[in-house]
Amino acid sequence: MSDTEKMGSRELGLVLTQQILGVDDLHYGLWDDAMELKLANLHIAQQRYTDNLINAMPDPKAGSVKVFDIGCGTGHVLGQLLARGFEADGLVPAPSLAKLVRQQQAKYPNYPSKLYECIFEAVPVGEMQQKYDVCLFSESFQYICMETSFDILQKILKPGGIVVICDFFKTEHHGDGGPGDGSFGGGHAMADFYRKVQASRFEIARDEDITQRVSPNLQLVNDILHNTIKPVGLTFDRYLSENYPKIYWVIKRLVRKKLERLNYKYFEGHRNKETFERYKTYHLIVLKLKG
Ligand SMILES: C[S@@+](CC[C@H](N)C(=O)[O-])C[C@H]1O[C@@H](n2cnc3c(N)ncnc32)[C@H](O)[C@@H]1O
Repeated sequence: MSDTEKMGSRELGLVLTQQILGVDDLHYGLWDDAMELKLANLHIAQQRYTDNLINAMPDPKAGSVKVFDIGCGTGHVLGQLLARGFEADGLVPAPSLAKLVRQQQAKYPNYPSKLYECIFEAVPVGEMQQKYDVCLFSESFQYICMETSFDILQKILKPGGIVVICDFFKTEHHGDGGPGDGSFGGGHAMADFYRKVQASRFEIARDEDITQRVSPNLQLVNDILHNTIKPVGLTFDRYLSENYPKIYWVIKRLVRKKLERLNYKYFEGHRNKETFERYKTYHLIVLKLKG
């Protein structure tokens, strides 16, 4: 593996999530009271999320719709777009995910779907001027520099094109020191997002708060962390401490701070619905260029 292909911690988290949960999508699911909250239903909830995204776009049956799926993860949403007649390209900066995206693209040879393997901030804007009807960020907007992205988006969108963002943002409670504050990273500050949109050439055409429909995912993840991951970790911990006591204690002292942080984030029960709803707000937002 070359240096440029080295797996970073963010990519590690995404790949592990996919492997542990056994899902194709790297986004949350949309739940409601009628659907039992269990891992076996996660792919159904995720499919609802994908359908909700796609319903926010123009219908390709009415004419060609070019979509740019930015931060396309495993390419599962991209594959569904191609299957439904959209002319869709993808972008993913993580090499191990790019391999999965290419497998999806190969299933739909009717459209020569492109894959950009770079961060969004580094796309070759010159070759993409006014190319897309839709720029999609499915749970990927939180990773992207807002100022740079608005500037690039206005160049690569066709006149009348839209940006579809489905992601979580930080609420005004962020940093209040309450239980679980800081245990769950990610997301731009919501107020900052609204300010930056106002200062940009975009305006908000739709803004749907879906926090209550995605927050059950956190309960599901918390259950998995407590009932599966934690017991496995404790078993390893015991095995290493009993069989390699010296090296075990040296390593544990060296990474003590990191372990405490991991414990706070994942195993102290803060990854739950209530903490998420206090500190994050999840929105489906459609932006269009002003006038
Ligand atoms: C939570 S996953 C969502 C994946 C996919 N969109 C989905 O809905 O399943 C976040 C994605 O954002 C990508 N990403 C992270 N930083 C990025 C950046 N600066 N530019 C573009 N994509 C980025 C990751 O590689 C990953 O594919």
